[in-house]
Formats: sequence, structure tokens, C-alpha cells
Amino acid sequence: MKVPFFRLKLGAAEKSAVSDVIKSGWVTTGPRVKEFEQKICKLADAKYAVAVSSGTAGLFLALKALSIGKGDEVITSAYTMVATVEVILHCGAKPVLADIDPVTLNIDFNSIKEKITKKTKAIIAVDIAGWPCDYKSLKKMAKDNNLYLIDDAAHALGGKYGNKPIGSIADLSVFSFYPTKNITSGEGGMVVSNSKKTIEKIKHLSLHAMSSSGWKRYSGGSWRYDVTDLGYKFNLSDLSAGLALGQLKRSDTLQNKRIKLAARYRKNLNDITEYIELPFEDKTSTHAWHLFIIKLNLSKLKITRNQFIAEMEKRGIGCGVHFIPIYRFSYYKKSLKFNIKDFSNCEKSFKRVISLPFYIDLSYPELDYVCEAIKKLIKKYKKI
Ligand SMILES: Cc1ncc(COP(=O)(O)O)c(C=O)c1O
Repeated sequence: MKVPFFRLKLGAAEKSAVSDVIKSGWVTTGPRVKEFEQKICKLADAKYAVAVSSGTAGLFLALKALSIGKGDEVITSAYTMVATVEVILHCGAKPVLADIDPVTLNIDFNSIKEKITKKTKAIIAVDIAGWPCDYKSLKKMAKDNNLYLIDDAAHALGGKYGNKPIGSIADLSVFSFYPTKNITSGEGGMVVSNSKKTIEKIKHLSLHAMSSSGWKRYSGGSWRYDVTDLGYKFNLSDLSAGLALGQLKRSDTLQNKRIKLAARYRKNLNDITEYIELPFEDKTSTHAWHLFIIKLNLSKLKITRNQFIAEMEKRGIGCGVHFIPIYRFSYYKKSLKFNIKDFSNCEKSFKRVISLPFYIDLSYPELDYVCEAIKKLIKKYKKI
């Protein structure tokens, strides 16, 4: 059997929604984008939203709209996708990396505390794999130090902290609709917030800072417009929004499948937790289940993480690593100065983590096959 790390399956709902956009005669930013924004606002319990061309664009514009730039520092996790950090540099600010909680893999509150300076303007928290960060502590810390709290919620659509949906907690939250994400628009992102002013600023910047959009002009508005700022071209198209609207029509089914897959992995692997740690979950939050990340208990095994992944590959199973810490990348090593000792949890976790195949098209026999392969490897490589 072959089980790829990821496989995308789009269905009739998506085909029909995209076909409707094509038939409408308007494919770039217009009514579908507006509908998509309204639907995500509802899901995330946020007042305002702006759709953009990617999660990365959303993070960048969030920082821009908050006027974060030269001379400012932004604290974020060393354990994230590079997008979270590169946008800070693109704004001219300095990324300051914090260590993680080795259990949840989310940014560590105490590590942030040590990194706050007079120059710190914001914290970007990342809900790794879809498990919400410790927002009670983060919100207090942001308030006490007069910092913006931004949630890189690329993994976390559908998650909840307590009974609050992700998107309703931080000052700004940014979703990604990349194909591997829980809902996809092909490429796409969205910034949500309860601040009308900030969302309007992002919307303005996302389309050349023009005072009127193409949709407004072509649907009966005046041809006149002004350009009132230095803008960007980061808008989302109606075609992309149409695809996401198709996905959203069956979002409960999609999310339930993720919950079931996670439960089956947990049940199947429950008897080998001496050798592998399963993803953290408790009753305080609701997991969005974007990724299923296990951690090897290396002290009990005669195999490294890389060897383990290679063995899985030999059995036709694709695995991933989320994430290679930022300080390990050659560009970031050169351009930022790190003290590796600051990231001991991150470094230890990196050497243990394996992301298992986890997507709505994954069948139960495939999942069981993955678990059987893990168990065989544990049996073969466990220290006696
Ligand atoms: C944690 C995190 N932040 C941001 C992004 C960027 O999202 P996008 O690919 O939509 O730009 C990703 C994408 O995988 C991500 O995993």
C-alpha cells in the first residue's frame, strides 16, 4: 500500500461553486470574496474580515496596518513556518524568536517574557497543528506591556480556546487557505478582527491603496479613483473565494472527518505511548486538527527521527516534519544572530517530531496501515 503525506480531493460542491463564478462573468475580487469574508466572520466569531491572496500576505498586511516597521521588534515562535518570520523582516522590523512549550509545541509564555524590550510592538502566536495557544496568559502579557497580539491561525480555523473560536481572541487573526489547510481556496488567506479601522486599512493596502475597487467601478460606480497610500496587490479573486465557498458548504463533514481520523490514530497508537508521544489535547480547548504530530521518545529507541521517516518511506508512507526551526535555516542564521541555548525545547522537539498522513481523503485502512508500520518499527527498534 502507498500512503502519501498529503492528497487533495475536491468534490462536486467545489466544482459547482467554481463553475457558478465562471458563469457569473466576474472572476476577480467581488461578491464571492465578500460572501467568503462574511462566512469566515461567522465561523470565527469576528466582526470584520478581509480576504487576501495568502496567509503570508495577511500576516504582512496585518503588521503594516499596525504601522510596525523599522526600529520595532516582534516576538514570535522559533517553531513555525518561515512565513511568520519573513513578514516581520519585510516590514523592516526585527523578529525576536521565543522558545516553545515542549508539550503543545506552541510559543512559551516565559520565553516571551524574557524577550520583551522597549522596542517590542507585537507578539505573533502560532496555533501549531491547530491546538490553540495559552491565550489567557498571552492576552494579559500583551495588555500589561501595551503590545498587539496577532494570531497566526494558519492551522487553526475551527479551533476554540475555551468556548471562544480562534479568530475572536487576538487583536488580529490570520487564516491560510493553502491546499493542505482545513479549508482551501487554492491559495488564499484572511485577516479577521473586531477592529473595523484595521481591517479597512488592510483591505485598502491589499489593492494598490485605491479609493475604489475594480468591482465598484465596473458594477456602476464612477471611473474616478485616487491612490492614497503605497499599496500592494494582495487581493483574493472571486474564483478562489468560490472554491472556498464550495468547501465551506461541507465544512462540518470535513472537520468531523479530521476529528475521527485523530481519534482513530489515538486509539490505534494508544498502547505504544511509552515510545511515542501523541498530540496534546485536553478539555480547555478544541483542536482544529490541521496536523497530527507525534513525538518519538528517543531515549527508549535505537533509531533517530530521520531514520524512522526513512523506514516509513520504505513502507510507502510519506511523513513530514513540522517544523524545521527558523534558526536552522541558512538565511536566518546569516541575517539574525541567535543563541541556540535560547531554544532548547524547540531543538529537542524538532529532533522528535513526525507529522503523519492526515487529510480528509485518508481512508481508515490507510490510516491503520500507517499505525501498523509504526508499531512494527517500534517493536524492531525499541531498547530492551
Ligand atoms: C504557521 C503558518 N503560518 C503561515 C503560513 C503561510 O500561509 P500561506 O501559505 O497561505 O501563505 C503557513 C503555511 O503553511 C503556516 O503553516
